[in-house]
Amino acid sequence: MLIRRVCRRDQLADGGRAVTFSVSRPGRALPAFVVAYDESVHAYVNVCPHRGTPLDWQPGEVFDESGLYLICATHGALFEPDSGRCIAGPCQGAHLQRIPVDVVGEHVVLQHDVLSDYADQ
Ligand code: FES
Repeated sequence: MLIRRVCRRDQLADGGRAVTFSVSRPGRALPAFVVAYDESVHAYVNVCPHRGTPLDWQPGEVFDESGLYLICATHGALFEPDSGRCIAGPCQGAHLQRIPVDVVGEHVVLQHDVLSDYADQ
């Protein structure tokens, strides 16, 4: 089975700093991040649906102060960490683009069935 390790699971604390990584689709590189929330891991393309900027104001800083929502540093849109849905801000109702990940042993990995869409850089 093809898998791509993204990071160790213990690098992610609930509501804490994300691990950033990159994925590519044909002809296009995409920044991405993975976070832990409610004891699960969630990964998204690091592109805000409002204006297309990265969410983080510093690498991996994507949670708001409460640790309950992802926040876009540009205009403050708030997103549910587990669904990627914007619940407040200029792109309310839009979604971050999810990247399916799993925890395998001690690592967070890209699911093998998305590797054809999301390939190693
Ligand atoms: S670019 Fe993210 S809220 Fe405007």
